[in-house]
Amino acid sequence: MAAIYEQLCPVLFGDDAVEEMAKRIAEDGRKQVFICCDAGVRKAGIVALVEDALKAEGLTYSMYDEILPDTPDVVVDELAEKIRQTGADIILGVGGGSTMDAAKASAVVLDNGDSIRKYMEENGNPGFVRKTPVYAIPTNAGTGSENTPMCVIHELSSDTKKVVLRPAELAVLDPKLTVSCPRSVTVFAGFDALSHAVEASTSVAPNPRDMLLALHAVKLIVNNLPIAMNEPENMEARSNMMFASNIAGIAFTQMSVHIGHCFDHEAGIKFHMEHGHCCALSIPETIRIVAEDKPAEVRQIGEAMGVAIPEEASPMEAADLVAERVRGLMRECGIKPLKDTGVTKEEAIAIAQDAIDHNWFHIMCPGDVSREKMERYIANIYDNYQ
Ligand SMILES: [Fe+2]
Repeated sequence: MAAIYEQLCPVLFGDDAVEEMAKRIAEDGRKQVFICCDAGVRKAGIVALVEDALKAEGLTYSMYDEILPDTPDVVVDELAEKIRQTGADIILGVGGGSTMDAAKASAVVLDNGDSIRKYMEENGNPGFVRKTPVYAIPTNAGTGSENTPMCVIHELSSDTKKVVLRPAELAVLDPKLTVSCPRSVTVFAGFDALSHAVEASTSVAPNPRDMLLALHAVKLIVNNLPIAMNEPENMEARSNMMFASNIAGIAFTQMSVHIGHCFDHEAGIKFHMEHGHCCALSIPETIRIVAEDKPAEVRQIGEAMGVAIPEEASPMEAADLVAERVRGLMRECGIKPLKDTGVTKEEAIAIAQDAIDHNWFHIMCPGDVSREKMERYIANIYDNYQ
């Protein structure tokens, strides 16, 4: 089957990317910059690196530093209003996925009026204009949100995550912004990126370029996450993680995530768990559930992880070996089993139908995702990683 591959957003990547970005903003004649971030990223001194670069180019800026995880719809509207008041002509989203998503979503409201809820109701349909450029500047290596069109927004009225499709105009990847990333954020973000790569490379919509990207991301993450976790200032590991997260993001934009992120989104909302924690828990069972439909891809993922898979191993035996490699990495990184978060097995399984109903991309999983299949998948997440 013919496949299309493209890239929605150019990437500026390197250890002086932030300075280079500021130069470009000045050269483009932008008058007023608006920085979106959260209080933690600002307090850690990361935003100051961006501010310094803007000041060095003589640029003026305003800031909103109250972005919350899983950005609620009302915050997006509030943010757009604040940006409008400053007259900003470019928006920088400096932070994790929630911040970059909020920055992108706020531009939709700024450029088109109304409330972000209107565009969520239209199922993210991009029937709106893009006028104000948004630069996405990740401060951790995980979501890949800088390169995806998806803005995941928490709809408060239904308590679900909804999506608006609006890519950034430029992704700015500067590994020095991740050096002060706390250990838990480094780890969760790393597993988020790994889950993107694993799900993308086993979806029903593969293409040859993005397979290469996803498999290379797997290799980089497995080899660099423990180093980035233990040696936060190791720029090579930070740089490799940032690149891995970005190419995994590009890969899943085209090939899609599937069953893992259905669980990850639903469990994240229902049990108030970090997205990356849910991702880590789901990866081994994603590998196992696609074993029969995607045996060659599972072997490729195993190879990228350096797993020795005997030639005569059955698809399920191969998947078990690869899944166990991931569980080893989870233990090394201190990932808590689902049971240890206080969630009972019954409570976990009970989210199965909502995980399907609230996340259309279950259709990107090989084989139908029935309620029974999702229940079995969640039960295995619960039982198989202790
Ligand atoms: Fe994710």
